[in-house]
Amino acid sequence: MARRENKTSDHNIILTGFMGTGKSSVGRLLAEHLGYEFVDTDEWIAARCGKAIHDIFRDQGEAAFREMEAALALELGGVKKKVIATGGRLMLDADNAAALSRNGRVFTLWATPEEIMARVASDTAAVRPLLEGPSPEVRIRALYEERRAGYARFTPVETSGKTITEVVQLVLNHLADGIT
Ligand code: S3P
Repeated sequence: MARRENKTSDHNIILTGFMGTGKSSVGRLLAEHLGYEFVDTDEWIAARCGKAIHDIFRDQGEAAFREMEAALALELGGVKKKVIATGGRLMLDADNAAALSRNGRVFTLWATPEEIMARVASDTAAVRPLLEGPSPEVRIRALYEERRAGYARFTPVETSGKTITEVVQLVLNHLADGIT
C-alpha cells in the first residue's frame, strides 16, 4: 500500500455505513496503517455489557442499545487518534453525529444492496438482530432506502468489488488530499 503523507493531525477517523460494508475490517487495517488505536462501537458495547449485541437487543430491547450507543458517542467525541468503526445506525442520529464529528473525519462506506446481502450471508460470525426474520433481503432493501440520505451526509467511499486494502487506500487518499 502506497504511503502518502496524511494530514489527520490528531483527529479521529469515523467509519459509518450500512451493515456489511466492511467498517470493522477496513477500520482495523486503517488504524494499523496510521498507528492509531482501533475502536469498534459494537465491540465496546458488547464488552461492557458482557454479552453479544444480539443478546442486548433480545434482553433489553433496541431502545436500550441505542442509549448505549449515544453514551458511547459522547464519550468518543472526547478521544484522539482513534479509528472508530460505528454500528450501522449510530451516525444517523444527529446528536451522535455531532458528538463524533467534533474531532473526527467521517467516511461512509458504500456497497450495493446485492453486495451487502452476499457479505452478510457469508459473515456467519455476526448475528445481526435487525436482519432476523423470514426475509433479510427485503429488510436490507427497505433499511437501505430509509438510511441512504443519512449516510450521504458524509464523505463517500465505494467498496463494492474492492478489497479491504483498496478501500483503506481510498480513505488514505482522502486524508492526504484533505478531503473530508
Ligand atoms: C445495526 C448495525 C450493527 C449493530 C446493530 C444495529 C444497525 O452494526 O450496531 O445490530 O442498526 O444498522 P454493524 O453495522 O457493524 O453490523
